[in-house]
Amino acid sequence: IVSQYSNDIPEPPGSMYIRPTHIGTEAAIGKAAAPSINSMLYVLISPVGDYFAGGAKPLRVLLDETGMRCAPHMGMIKSGGNYASALGPIIAAKNDVQADQILFCPNGDVQETGAANFLLIDGNEIITKALDSSFLHGVTRSSILTLAADLGMKVTETQLSVEELLQRAAKPGVEAALSGTAAVLTSVGTLIHNDKEHTVGSGEHGPITQKLRQALNDIQWGKAPDTHNWLTRVK
Ligand SMILES: Cc1ncc(COP(=O)(O)O)c(C=O)c1O
Repeated sequence: IVSQYSNDIPEPPGSMYIRPTHIGTEAAIGKAAAPSINSMLYVLISPVGDYFAGGAKPLRVLLDETGMRCAPHMGMIKSGGNYASALGPIIAAKNDVQADQILFCPNGDVQETGAANFLLIDGNEIITKALDSSFLHGVTRSSILTLAADLGMKVTETQLSVEELLQRAAKPGVEAALSGTAAVLTSVGTLIHNDKEHTVGSGEHGPITQKLRQALNDIQWGKAPDTHNWLTRVK
């Protein structure tokens, strides 16, 4: 499909967004309670521009310890319902505290935001939640951790509590970032928790975040060797 529409792929930093979609199509009422035996898989593709055109400011992120993005056993699945259930709280966070996103931390466990994974960078260490079924296993998260290890960083996949996050984020030089296909790696400058604002490190774009973002972009845009064979060339 991508080769067929290769002329419509914009130059970097634009890209072709590919979204496989799978829906149940069995013609029967009552399918809310049982899986459909027929389904249709179709692929939406769309040229997209630079997600952060105009120079993104470091993000403001609200820590939410009481709600959750979606049901915990569904978190690793890219299902529409997961996104719908997070929209109300995200809109409220935008209106109430001018947050760009919510970082869902049910019972103090730092998970992910509405559509991106969360990483903390403390000196030479990059820390993020270890994989489990409660959150989406983003390919960007995996690529960034691989590139961080390539650069000699210590990669720690673990449980991170809100308490530890706030303690570490207050240290000078610490960086926080969101990872995702569209966001690539975007700095978080402020964490909002219980009506208090906590600046992450300097509150500005972090140099390590920018270095990792650039390293991934360089591979995606063919400027650096694709040593992990992540690119499939369109003929
Ligand atoms: C809930 C959620 N988490 C994380 C991500 C980041 O995943 P990826 O890096 O594969 O884009 C996404 C991307 O859509 C997402 O929807």
